[in-house]
Amino acid sequence: PVLVVDFGAQYAQLIARRVREAGVYSEIVPHTISADEVREKQPVGMILSGGPSSVYADEAPNLDEGIFDLGVPTLGICYGFQVMARALGGEVAHTGQREYGSTQATLAGDGGVLLAEQPAEQTVWMSHGDSVAKAPEGFEVLASTASTPVAAFGNADRCLYGVQWHPEVKHSAYGQDVLENFLHDAAGIANDWNPGNVIAEQVERIRAQIGTGKVIAGLSGGVDSAVAAALVHKAVGDQLTCVFVDHGLLRQDERRQVEEDYVAATGIRLVTVDAADTFISELAGVSDPEQKRKIIGREFIRTFERAQADLIAESLEDDGDPIRFLVQGTLYPDVVESGGGTGAANIKSHHNVGGLPEDMTFELVEPLRTLFKDEVRAIGRELGLPEAIVARQPFPGPGLGIRIVGEVTAERLELLRKADAIVRAELTAAGLDSEIWQCPVVLLADVRSVGVQGDGRTYGHPIVLRPVSSEDAMTADWTRLPYDLLARISNRITNEVEDVNRVVLDVTSKPPGTIEWE
Ligand code: XMP
Repeated sequence: PVLVVDFGAQYAQLIARRVREAGVYSEIVPHTISADEVREKQPVGMILSGGPSSVYADEAPNLDEGIFDLGVPTLGICYGFQVMARALGGEVAHTGQREYGSTQATLAGDGGVLLAEQPAEQTVWMSHGDSVAKAPEGFEVLASTASTPVAAFGNADRCLYGVQWHPEVKHSAYGQDVLENFLHDAAGIANDWNPGNVIAEQVERIRAQIGTGKVIAGLSGGVDSAVAAALVHKAVGDQLTCVFVDHGLLRQDERRQVEEDYVAATGIRLVTVDAADTFISELAGVSDPEQKRKIIGREFIRTFERAQADLIAESLEDDGDPIRFLVQGTLYPDVVESGGGTGAANIKSHHNVGGLPEDMTFELVEPLRTLFKDEVRAIGRELGLPEAIVARQPFPGPGLGIRIVGEVTAERLELLRKADAIVRAELTAAGLDSEIWQCPVVLLADVRSVGVQGDGRTYGHPIVLRPVSSEDAMTADWTRLPYDLLARISNRITNEVEDVNRVVLDVTSKPPGTIEWE
């Protein structure tokens, strides 16, 4: 892999994605990684990310300097560039002069292999306080800006490069070229990470993990679990049984879509478990979001364990070999956001990562654990899944349970389901499905406001619309939906959904707001 060393900024994931867009497999590792650990991973290249710190700050995140002696081609970005400069004997100055946003960079000479064939002047995106004042010995300065004399440097013999700007953001005009020049031309890494290869590799891994064992997969109706199950089905065929839990937190028509459309497309064996009553009674009296997530995660696993017991009992041909494996559609951002692997802060307990109970008896099969959403979609298409499934907007595993702010009850779910169905139908009718990333519809069950309907006073709940645009759910902006569409949705919800007398629009980006309200 190419290792992306995370210095604690939000940029590491973006860098990892851009590297994969260049056809190269990447993995994020914490900056606390040792030279020995790096060597064990046998990286073909390394990229040091930006970070929030000054290299001079107390407790500034640092890097085991032995890493630079391993002979691994390395590109330092922003903070990573400065860490590199310092470790290799250059000078980093605390100028106190911040450079932030779009800046013009000027190439020095031909820009070396890193900036080869790029215009002598280019727009780059900067965000830094300290600057590299002097390149380390043996390094050539490749670019500068008005306030930063050393904005890029390189040592072709050792294949060590660095840029002060952020090539991973789209505001840097030739950013992707910088990354690709480093990966392909400087480090000589092949462009061969693509859906077909990922499938072949995962199928092999799944076979190695599962052997002749039996496996079950949970289907949620979403893209991730559908693709994960299809991958496992491709690897081990009928050793797989899919279980679809109707936890009562689903949206309208979702059960039918899974039971009919997905099964028709894949030929996968499917069992539906009706567990709505259990989930709703376990959630009774609980309003705390993290507690809800933990309960839903725990009940998911318990439900699968019961399904397993039933399947064994029912299967006449069963040879006494129990189902030992459980497939989950965990994605790379889930792993990183839950603090798995990078030491990043725990933002939310995703039900399929942080919320697992300790007494769980299955071994997990997670073929999407290293993938981003767009890669999962590409793999789904390559596997021949129908577009209706592959292009589906994300819906969280805990479902409507985390879209009711307050206690979850059957009546509230029914109400939210109606409002959600109206929103989805109107967005689809307006042709906006591919423009928005997703549109959570949230019921503020503990809030009431006064309204007037017909001749009477009402005292009902608000519904929140949360349309967002995003590339990968790590960051998002609220989608500017047309006013007439919002008016139609508002009219329909307040007219058709009992006990709702107000519709409000969430106009918060992520950060600071997460996409879901809980
Ligand atoms: P947030 O709310 O963290 O959501 O901005 C980011 C994306 O993740 C989805 N999401 C989940 N998906 N299990 C899931 O499978 C979960 O527990 C979960 N929580 C949030 C959310 O819908 C959005 O797409």
